[in-house]
Amino acid sequence: MSTLGHQTVMLGQAVEALAIDEARAAGVYVDGTFGRGGHSRAILQRLSAGGRLIALDKDPEAIAAARTIDDPRFEIVHASFSTLREVLSERGITSVDGILLDLGVSSPQIDDPARGFSFRHDGPLDMRMNPLHGLSAAQWLERASQEEIREVIRDYGEERFALQIAKAIVARRAERPLSTTRELASLVAGVVRTREKGQDPATRTFQAIRIYINQELAELEQGLVMAMDALGLRGRLVVISFHSLEDRIVKRFLQRLARPVEPPPYIPIKARDLPLASVRLLARQLPATDEVALNPRARSAVMRVAERLAPSGP
Ligand SMILES: C[S@@+](CC[C@H](N)C(=O)[O-])C[C@H]1O[C@@H](n2cnc3c(N)ncnc32)[C@H](O)[C@@H]1O
Repeated sequence: MSTLGHQTVMLGQAVEALAIDEARAAGVYVDGTFGRGGHSRAILQRLSAGGRLIALDKDPEAIAAARTIDDPRFEIVHASFSTLREVLSERGITSVDGILLDLGVSSPQIDDPARGFSFRHDGPLDMRMNPLHGLSAAQWLERASQEEIREVIRDYGEERFALQIAKAIVARRAERPLSTTRELASLVAGVVRTREKGQDPATRTFQAIRIYINQELAELEQGLVMAMDALGLRGRLVVISFHSLEDRIVKRFLQRLARPVEPPPYIPIKARDLPLASVRLLARQLPATDEVALNPRARSAVMRVAERLAPSGP
């Protein structure tokens, strides 16, 4: 399904995973990544008149798109999902029935040259999901040390040529600042020597800088804690990630909560008195092959689903 330029990934599977049955159709749900609202609209279709959907996004353009939804059960909030606790407590909501996080960037963000996310279009080197906050990629590349740039490109892009790219950036900025996506893409292309099949040489570097500029991994870690905190008993968490760094964080976080807590061997405690696991892992799903054929962005998607067991915080 395409909603104003964003083809929603795993739409049916994700909404199904929230398990909004008759008993829960009057519940409270959170879409932490509204984008263009493909998932939100499908969730609203499942809710009864008493249901409620709070949607969040960091991007002011996503917020503007959400304003076209005229539904008393729906509210859009310009905030990061890492601040979910405040968002809910400001509304007096103490627990929710389901939370969806469809991570990463939306197609309108990537496709708009003015947002500076893509090496395919020339535009200002920005890459902020929320351009009202923080440093743009160009500003960061102007100030960061060679070592910082190398670490970001190596760790978030898993790029073998991180050192060479960082050196080239620092040499180039000594002459004049890097200010456009095309300048960065061609500088990287001049340094990356082995090209991966079907991949632009700048792919890894752009991914890395985008993750850093938006603090995507730290936001995810914090967002998962917030989500667990907010979910009521039997509430569902559904997370769709698009690269291995994100999926690893989700997997480890959920696996840790799915294990019953083991006390150190020197503490005498009966099995029945042990704290229980706080989530049950329900699924790890990939998009269907026909979805991947229709939407190349779905190719790298992985969806994990968990259910809240214990009502207390993790
Ligand atoms: C893949 S898109 C979501 C698409 C959406 N599910 C749809 O169907 O249209 C991801 C969205 O999440 C937003 N986003 C990413 N990280 C965020 C965060 N930490 N907090 C809030 N929004 C975030 C991005 O701005 C983008 O609009």
